[in-house]
Amino acid sequence: MFRSLRWRLTLWFVALSTVVYALAVVLGYFLFKGSLMSLLDEEVNSLVAEIEPAIVLVDSKPNLNQWAKDAKNVPFKWLPTIQLFDSQKRLLETHGPPGLEHLYGPEVREIDQPEPQHDVRLFSTPIRENKKLAGFLQIQLSMRSLDHAASQYMYTMGMLTPFLIVASGFAGYFFSGMAAKPLEESFDLLRRFMNDAGHELSTPISIIQANAEAMELDLPELDQSSPITNKLAIINRSTERMGRLVSDLMLLAKMESPQIKSRQTHIQLDVVAKSVLEEFDELFKNKGINLVHDDLSPIQLTGDSDAIKRLLTNLLQNAMRYTDKGGSVTVKVEPSGRFAKLSVADTGIGIPPESVPKIFDRFYRVDKSRSRAAGGVGLGLSIVRAIVDAHKGKIEVSSEVDKGTTFAIFLSRH
Ligand SMILES: Nc1ncnc2c1ncn2[C@@H]1O[C@H](COP(=O)(O)OP(=O)(O)OP(=O)(O)O)[C@@H](O)[C@H]1O
Ligand SMILES: [Mg+2]
Repeated sequence: MFRSLRWRLTLWFVALSTVVYALAVVLGYFLFKGSLMSLLDEEVNSLVAEIEPAIVLVDSKPNLNQWAKDAKNVPFKWLPTIQLFDSQKRLLETHGPPGLEHLYGPEVREIDQPEPQHDVRLFSTPIRENKKLAGFLQIQLSMRSLDHAASQYMYTMGMLTPFLIVASGFAGYFFSGMAAKPLEESFDLLRRFMNDAGHELSTPISIIQANAEAMELDLPELDQSSPITNKLAIINRSTERMGRLVSDLMLLAKMESPQIKSRQTHIQLDVVAKSVLEEFDELFKNKGINLVHDDLSPIQLTGDSDAIKRLLTNLLQNAMRYTDKGGSVTVKVEPSGRFAKLSVADTGIGIPPESVPKIFDRFYRVDKSRSRAAGGVGLGLSIVRAIVDAHKGKIEVSSEVDKGTTFAIFLSRH
């Protein structure tokens, strides 16, 4: 139980860390790209600040030839394309790598991808001479290196993902072990308490029962209608019920304890089932229910035969308890893949769908009054589940109200 809790916690830890990591990477990508972008803009602003005063007007047309000659030695981080246009937006000069050849807008700040396939950042500004338009300066910066840096970032982060998953798996396993430990300890304490209290209670219960039975025998002269006989019968019934409850709780504590390994040996499932069914034949006949068990395939498996007898007994008690006279109960043992399937199908009252997930809980009863009247306390199926868990098997329940219920137990054959 705690092993699976530990693994579940670890899986959650890994899944959550991966989601947080993925979100952080995506956020990091946008922040990284954003900061590269603003770096680029700063570069352009300083470029504009440098170029604008260097533009000279020759025949009222802007000219940068002199500056370009001087600028040859200036290293540009982002290799811009610098263009001059005349007032009619005709291209006059281009410096730097080739770029888009027409002017975008009279004044543009930061256009990304002005045309498909051209991933550039583009700026333009008008040039005036005495307030009269003389032309335009346009600067384009290729985004290729920026995109390359961003995709390199994503690639590196992607490459780190498997390492992160492995590392968070280890961390998760370690921390969930620490988190599960106090839980495990308190469960262990509860189990030990249940076992100890059970032992302490079973002695006085058997003393009460033995004395009540002796009193019944000692007072044979009392007639059946006497209130004392009646009270003794109540005491007997209640102590028997209490005794069963205590031994069921102790069995549950034992089955769920990881320290106590049940005695598993090679057993013949059909033979074990047959021995239990023979005990029930008479009981079912008395209740007028047809018990069918013709289909018991010989199957060998490793298991605790006493526990499996108890499992089948509990299922048969339920089938008998919750099936009315005239109904039938069919028990089968058959192979099912790598499992041995033991099924008990009745034509009884059925279980409402919303109750099915709860019937294995301790003390859960669908119809409390009917179950109590029939002597049930609601531990039978909890014991069944504990036995199946101890065998690493599984249980399937299918039920329909007023039609019947089938419990199928799958036990590993290896
Ligand atoms: N074959 C069945 N048909 C209809 N209802 C069932 C059947 N088996 C179990 N149930 C329902 O599931 C509840 C839980 O079953 P469980 O065996 O744990 O308790 P119980 O039979 O009431 O008491 P106990 O087995 O401890 O004497 C029952 O009270 C009953 O309502
Ligand atoms: Mg029961």
